[in-house]
Amino acid sequence: MISSISVRNATIDDVIGIDTLLQTQIEKGKLLPRTLPELYERVRDFFVIETGGQIVGCGALQLFTAELGEVRSLAIASSFEGHGYGRAIVERLIKESQSIGLSKLMALTYVPGFFHKLEFSTVDRDELPEKVWGVCVYCPHYNNCQEIAVLKRI
Ligand SMILES: CC(C)(COP(=O)(O)OP(=O)(O)OC[C@H]1O[C@@H](n2cnc3c(N)ncnc32)[C@H](O)[C@@H]1OP(=O)(O)O)[C@@H](O)C(=O)NCCC(=O)NCCS
Repeated sequence: MISSISVRNATIDDVIGIDTLLQTQIEKGKLLPRTLPELYERVRDFFVIETGGQIVGCGALQLFTAELGEVRSLAIASSFEGHGYGRAIVERLIKESQSIGLSKLMALTYVPGFFHKLEFSTVDRDELPEKVWGVCVYCPHYNNCQEIAVLKRI
């Protein structure tokens, strides 16, 4: 565990680095694809960890309703996994969620065990109608989604 991990808001200059990081995990099938134009559009949702001029961690907070936000595009560079970077990003997203007044934070994930460590609970997707009906219905994996829904009340 690294004692002081600095997580900051992303800037427009980070978008290429975020894209590079996400692509490595998208190619492994661990994240759903996001396009570069979408990343520019959503850059204000993102928080990053930068080391030696390289973006080695990122995650985004996307809002759905007055109550609900989602952890999206969470990725840590492979060589930096296991050192608390993922936890640091999610803790920052939780803090951000609290500061803007959300009461629930969710994720759809292949790694529920990681989120359980951060006191998210596995829930039925039917408990998240805002996400399922607002976004998932447009996803090509809608009928065979393998992601697990996790939720934290904040
Ligand atoms: C999942 C991911 C973000 C974890 O990041 P990380 O920096 O390696 O995780 P951390 O070191 O902060 O781990 C925090 C805790 O979660 C645990 N953990 C990490 N990955 C885990 C996993 N896949 N399953 C279960 N627990 C896990 C750690 O052991 C640690 O536990 P501890 O606090 O008791 O020591 C990272 O592996 C990653 O980018 N994976 C590929 C993309 C992905 O799956 N993103 C999630 C999309 S929702």
